[in-house]
Amino acid sequence: MLRPQDIHYSAGQRRAAMEVINRTPEGKKLPHPAAHAPRIFADTATLDDIRPLKEGGIINGVTTNPTLMKRAGADSWDSAMKIMQAIVDYMAPDPVSLELTELEPDKMVEQAKRLAAVGENVVVKVPTGGYRAIDKSLDPFTGLKVMRRLWELDIKVNATLIFNSTQAFWAANAGASYVSPFLGRMADYLYKNDDVERPPGNSLYHIEHHKIPAGGTDKVANTSYVALDGPRKDSGVRLIHEIVALFNTYRIETEVLAASFRNAVQVAECLLAGADILTVPADILMGVADHPLSDEGMVSFVDDSKVFDR
Ligand code: E4P
Repeated sequence: MLRPQDIHYSAGQRRAAMEVINRTPEGKKLPHPAAHAPRIFADTATLDDIRPLKEGGIINGVTTNPTLMKRAGADSWDSAMKIMQAIVDYMAPDPVSLELTELEPDKMVEQAKRLAAVGENVVVKVPTGGYRAIDKSLDPFTGLKVMRRLWELDIKVNATLIFNSTQAFWAANAGASYVSPFLGRMADYLYKNDDVERPPGNSLYHIEHHKIPAGGTDKVANTSYVALDGPRKDSGVRLIHEIVALFNTYRIETEVLAASFRNAVQVAECLLAGADILTVPADILMGVADHPLSDEGMVSFVDDSKVFDR
């Protein structure tokens, strides 16, 4: 669990240096008491989920992916394009991330151009890695190379499927405007695979994969990948903390877009970790205004206020 004292003042300095994004529907910038606060995006492709969140001023951006598109009813590229167009139009001028599905660099760039033409607020989501898991002959640097080409074309990129700070750093160097670390999937993985007998750390980098330095111990080798040395169960959020620390240090303006949320506690922890943006599923966003003690308090206040009724 991250503690309030874990938030570093440099995270605030970083936010203050970022563009102020609170705008009217016409795109005019507004003075706002939380102008430099982290932004909240909705992680969904379902317009019916997006509408109430946008109207309520809860979100100012949307992220989609092929799974979310399928869940929203897309069963062909044409129907996916229609859904994407509707979200992009509805959200303008706020950013909407649309993910590439091509796997060959030239085709990816062409598809990115088509997606970018859907609206000025489109951000093209490019998988950072994993290409060889689809086809062993694919170039492992496909995503990073495409990000660089899109940067040269002035097309905004959201580098997705990020699971360590090195991937985030490389994506930023390639020119990505956003990096999306998947803290929920990391937390899920650690929950299933972390071994309580081992020292705390990111078990994706288990000791088996590392040579122990001469005179070193398991602990040194395993924890050397956890820059901020957190307890084992919150390594999903630690991932965000680590990337924010790295980007702060080198004044990298690529925004850290925390993704793959499983619950409201992770939302609170990511705010403490200094994430620039949190993209959160609609059902979690719908729940954050409530709390069992808010419910209890409201019931008693409403009940007691009845004596004032005439
Ligand atoms: C990020 O932008 C992705 O759409 C998303 O957060 C993935 O989350 P999941 O792990 O719930 O699929």
